[in-house]
Amino acid sequence: VLHTISTAAEMQRIALAAKRAGKRIGVVPTMGFLHDGHASLIHKARSDANVVIVTIFVNPLQFAPTEDLSRYPRDLERDTELAANAGADYLFTPVPHEMYPPGFDLTVSVGGVTAPFEGVSRPTHFNGVATVVAKLFLITQADSAFFGQKDYQQAMVVGKLIRDLAIPIQLVVCPTRRDADGVAMSSRNVYLSPEERTKAAVLYKSLQTAQNLITSGERRREALEECLRTTLNTAFGINIDYAAAADADTLEQCDVFATTQGIVLLLAVRFGTTRLIDNLVVR
Ligand code: PAF
Repeated sequence: VLHTISTAAEMQRIALAAKRAGKRIGVVPTMGFLHDGHASLIHKARSDANVVIVTIFVNPLQFAPTEDLSRYPRDLERDTELAANAGADYLFTPVPHEMYPPGFDLTVSVGGVTAPFEGVSRPTHFNGVATVVAKLFLITQADSAFFGQKDYQQAMVVGKLIRDLAIPIQLVVCPTRRDADGVAMSSRNVYLSPEERTKAAVLYKSLQTAQNLITSGERRREALEECLRTTLNTAFGINIDYAAAADADTLEQCDVFATTQGIVLLLAVRFGTTRLIDNLVVR
């Protein structure tokens, strides 16, 4: 049975007791409105850990004032069912003042990998993510943490957080889950109109087209980015935030990638008021 816990103190007490009993704890941090991508993370955690904690917290710190915090989709009843079916033991669902009580005054600020791409468009976003993730790690006492590759740069930021603070936790990044037309699963897909939802398939199509170009020997960044843009622009009325090729391990934007270098293709595209991201790694 799935237990829902809403206070940080109780969640941490349960986690510490499990730890002392020799259990291995896996955590799946989420903002709720769970989909099959989250289910795959929970399954993976289930196969790795004795105790699986799914956290649901729409973290105000990682939204800018102009972003979608107030309209972010929520459905705790459906989330509870999905998490239970996927094999979670605990659902941690704090309210904001539980995570950020009066007087809370701390920011975990990660440098380097936070600067490009999402960092340009959303300058305060990754500090918000790093701060909440560090706290969730301490509350859940997790031995392993499961994140989706869809948020590629976020996974790198969490990796850096873990290394720089020597947090004793194993980061597991799981493959992006996609719908039949290639659209990466995201809670934000509900914002899309039917027409935009159809158009959104162009993201994965452009990633695959550029991947084919790499496979056929192209290693020049500008040529790869041009290929991404050209394919994206076959969809009318979209707005490209970035369409980039970078070193898969450092996010460095080399002019020409060495054949030994992994390349990550990264996209952020606006469909009306909805901003979608996606990526593909080619090694
Ligand atoms: O990827 C998310 O859902 C969020 O950024 C996370 C990791 C739960 C932190 O709020």
